[in-house]
Amino acid sequence: MKRKHLLGLHGVSREEIEKILNQAAFMKKVIVSDHKRIPTLQGKSVVTLFYENSTRTRMSFELASKYMGAASANMSASASSVAKGETLVDTGATLDMMGVDVIIMRHPMSGAPHLLSQHVNASVVNAGDGMNEHPTQALLDMYTIREKRGGLDGMKIAIIGDVLHSRVARSNAYGMKTMGADLYFAGPSTLMPPGFDHLGVHVGNDVRAAVENADVVMGLRIQRERQKAGLFPSVREYAHFFGIDMNVLKLAKKDALVMHPGPVNRGVELSSFTADCEQSVIREQVQNGVAIRMAVLDMLTRKEQTR
Ligand code: CP
Repeated sequence: MKRKHLLGLHGVSREEIEKILNQAAFMKKVIVSDHKRIPTLQGKSVVTLFYENSTRTRMSFELASKYMGAASANMSASASSVAKGETLVDTGATLDMMGVDVIIMRHPMSGAPHLLSQHVNASVVNAGDGMNEHPTQALLDMYTIREKRGGLDGMKIAIIGDVLHSRVARSNAYGMKTMGADLYFAGPSTLMPPGFDHLGVHVGNDVRAAVENADVVMGLRIQRERQKAGLFPSVREYAHFFGIDMNVLKLAKKDALVMHPGPVNRGVELSSFTADCEQSVIREQVQNGVAIRMAVLDMLTRKEQTR
C-alpha cells in the first residue's frame, strides 16, 4: 500500500525511509547533471502553501516539482485570501477544485497539515508545523549522513539547542531512532520538552557530554524571541554555554560531521569557524534537500493503491 500524505516520521518504518533515501540517490544524479529534467510529474500539479517564511524548504520543493515536469505554483498566505479571513479548510477546498495533486504546507500551528489532509483530495506534505514535525528536513539529514558514512546504525548523533520548539528535533528523533542511531539531545532545561527521553533518546544539559565521541554534531536554530519569553538569559550567555565552537567540536570524533538545518545564527548555535570547517556538511544538506523532496513527490504521486 502506498502513502497518500507525508505528515511526519512518527510511525514511518525503516523500510519506507530506506526507499525514500534510495530514490533520493537517483534524484541527486538528476540535479547534479546538465539536464535537470525528468518526466515523473508530467500532468501533475503541485502547490506550496506557506503560512511562515522559508528559503530552503519552499525553494527546494518548487525546484523539485519543476525538475520533475509538474505544473507548480506558490501561494503565500500573506498575499492570499487567507489574509481576508478564509479558513484553512476552505483554502484547501479551493485548491482542490483547481485540480491540485499535491499541497505542500508550512503552518505555525502543530497539526494543521493533518487537518488539511482530512479535507482535501490532494496529497499533503508537511513542510513544518508549529513545534511538531518537519519530516523532509529529517529525511535530508538522514540522507546526508548515509551518503557520508554509509548508514545511521550505531552512530552517536548529538543534537544541541532549542529542542522544545524544534520540529526538526522531533522528526529527527523519530526518523534517526528508526534508522538505528543513538541520539543525544542537549540544551537549556527551559528549552527541553518534558518526557522527551520517552522517545528512547538521551536528554541532558551538558553539551560536552553529548558531543563527546559523537559521529555527528547538529546545532538547532535559536529563535531570538525565546529570549524575550525568558527561556534563556541572553544570546551571549546561550552561545557561551550551549554554542558549538571548535573547542566543543574537538570532543567529537575527528571526522564528525557538523550539521544544521539552517538558517544558522552565526556565533550563537555555531561559531563561524564550526559552520565553515571542513567537517561541515551544511551546504550539502541544502543540495540533498532538493533530491529528498523530489523523492517524496515521486512517492506520493505514484499510481498504486493509497492508504
Ligand atoms: N531548514 C528549514 O526549514 O529552512 P527554511 O526555513 O529556510 O525552509
